[in-house]
Amino acid sequence: MDVTLRTPRLTLRQPVLDDASRIARFLDNFAVAGNLSRVPYPYRLADAKAWLRTWRPDTPAGETGFMIDLDGEGVIGNVGFHRDIEGTVIGYWLAQPFWNRGLMSEAVRASLDWYFETTAAPTLASGVFHFNKASLAIQKKAGFVEIGTSSRLCLARGEEVRHIDTELTRTAWMAHRQATRESTR
Ligand SMILES: CC(C)(COP(=O)(O)OP(=O)(O)OC[C@H]1O[C@@H](n2cnc3c(N)ncnc32)[C@H](O)[C@@H]1OP(=O)(O)O)[C@@H](O)C(=O)NCCC(=O)NCCS
Repeated sequence: MDVTLRTPRLTLRQPVLDDASRIARFLDNFAVAGNLSRVPYPYRLADAKAWLRTWRPDTPAGETGFMIDLDGEGVIGNVGFHRDIEGTVIGYWLAQPFWNRGLMSEAVRASLDWYFETTAAPTLASGVFHFNKASLAIQKKAGFVEIGTSSRLCLARGEEVRHIDTELTRTAWMAHRQATRESTR
């Protein structure tokens, strides 16, 4: 898969090894890593390089993702899809200096459009640790609904954390996209 997505402020593109230093700089921050399941803390350059080396250009849509470049800045985050027990899951992180500007809402919206347009999947799973109000707000704005709670290991915290499980159906995505288009006309 060699796809690049454009949004008003962002380019979503495939990762390259040169991204390692910015990924390591931004993920070596407990405020970011502590909200993610699978990111260790501290997070080293070697962790970023190891993750980048797992990248394959031919992975299917549900197991791939995008680095997020802010125009004039470079890499500021990642949004990606992976397989889990509940199916395909979307996850994302944004470097702390860039929070609260609507950037992840923009990146998630573009990624969801690409995912549902590229696949025939009826649903997409996600969720947040129970304290992550900003991420839950992003998901709800995109049409995700809460479907339950579970417990997830947070590598950075070294403990299980209560997790709010969410789901977006293709039908909800389509309705949401239609409503967004009508409100911007
Ligand atoms: C969560 C995260 C992706 C948010 O990125 P962002 O670009 O700042 O998010 P946005 O600005 O697009 O949207 C955040 C929304 O949350 C809302 N929000 C922020 N803090 C909030 C809070 N404490 N309570 C309720 N809502 C909150 C904002 O108002 C905004 O909603 P709005 O657009 O309706 O006003 C970013 O903080 C991050 O990467 N955190 C660490 C990693 C992480 O949590 N990843 C997600 C794991 S599930």
